[in-house]
Amino acid sequence: MANLKTNYMGLKLKNPIIAASGPLTSNLDSLKKLEDAGASAVVIKSIFQEQIDKDAISTMEMDDAFLAHADAYGFLLGASEDYFIDQYLTLVEDAKKALSIPVIASLNGSGSADWISEYAPRFASCGADAIELNHYEIGSNYKLDGKQIERNYIKFAKIARKEIKIPLALKIGSCFSAPANIMHQFDFLGINGLVLFNKFYNPDIDIETLEMKSGNPLSDNNDFYDTLRWVSLMSEELRLDLCANTGIHSSSTIIKMLLAGASTVELCSVLMKNGVGVIETFLKEINEWMDRKGFNEISDFKGKLAQEAMVDPTVWERTQYVKSIHNIGK
Ligand SMILES: Cc1cc2nc3c(=O)[nH]c(=O)nc-3n(C[C@H](O)[C@H](O)[C@H](O)COP(=O)(O)O)c2cc1C
Repeated sequence: MANLKTNYMGLKLKNPIIAASGPLTSNLDSLKKLEDAGASAVVIKSIFQEQIDKDAISTMEMDDAFLAHADAYGFLLGASEDYFIDQYLTLVEDAKKALSIPVIASLNGSGSADWISEYAPRFASCGADAIELNHYEIGSNYKLDGKQIERNYIKFAKIARKEIKIPLALKIGSCFSAPANIMHQFDFLGINGLVLFNKFYNPDIDIETLEMKSGNPLSDNNDFYDTLRWVSLMSEELRLDLCANTGIHSSSTIIKMLLAGASTVELCSVLMKNGVGVIETFLKEINEWMDRKGFNEISDFKGKLAQEAMVDPTVWERTQYVKSIHNIGK
């Protein structure tokens, strides 16, 4: 029986499978089911900036960025007082009492970082083992150039790092003109983990009612390639830990992410589609694979297929691309 323990931002986890922030991590019952199913940590459903920052609430409906909040969209439409800050902190505290696995609190915001300095210390003192900040900005405002958006991210990360003394992860999207550069900046600021990548809201259109509607929020099993690319490119380049997210629907994809250098994975859609019981199946299959390959511990193979720090990443990426194009149809 292999040892699946892994270290993520200083948290000692019994295996690499974390339950991602989402509907299944929004109440105590469901959190306990995730622990029983074998999850090594849980990220509590986010509290949104729009719920706690009065300025954001009043401007929200006038702002196009509102539509860009994938994970918030349906949720915000029905947002009630139940979700305000005290309830959130109570849920984190209750989860800490009820579970023996680490509990990660999650804040989801965008734009300027001023609100985070006001609220972050309260989150840090509610007993959470770590905080995951989902900074959500997709560049839909034509008045902001890329530099300004990156400055927003960096300011957000800087303030959060200053205010939050416990392990801190940023959950980001891949919409940067230079993802490697900004990941390095986060690393330099002392962020402990990066969750790659956030899944943005999918807009859709109902052609009968002629209205905008929400597309399917769940990923499918082909959505993991972008994550695999960046985990593989960056894992040897950064001191911080990487958590792979989006489109991870099988034990083989989890193994790929670990081989690329991820310390952990976060799962949401597959748990919603197939039930939390898949965690146990995945753990069993990872165990069997490790036995078959002669690996005793995750560290025996973690990062084995990461792009080496010394090689020029541009050349590596280009070589893989040319190889793949060349092989099509052979
Ligand atoms: C219905 C739904 C609600 C979600 N709510 C949140 C949230 O509150 N905070 C957050 O950071 N991510 C949220 N997510 C995103 C997931 O945590 C995850 O990043 C995303 O679904 C990609 O992972 P997956 O491919 O395993 O689903 C939500 C996703 C879904 C489908």
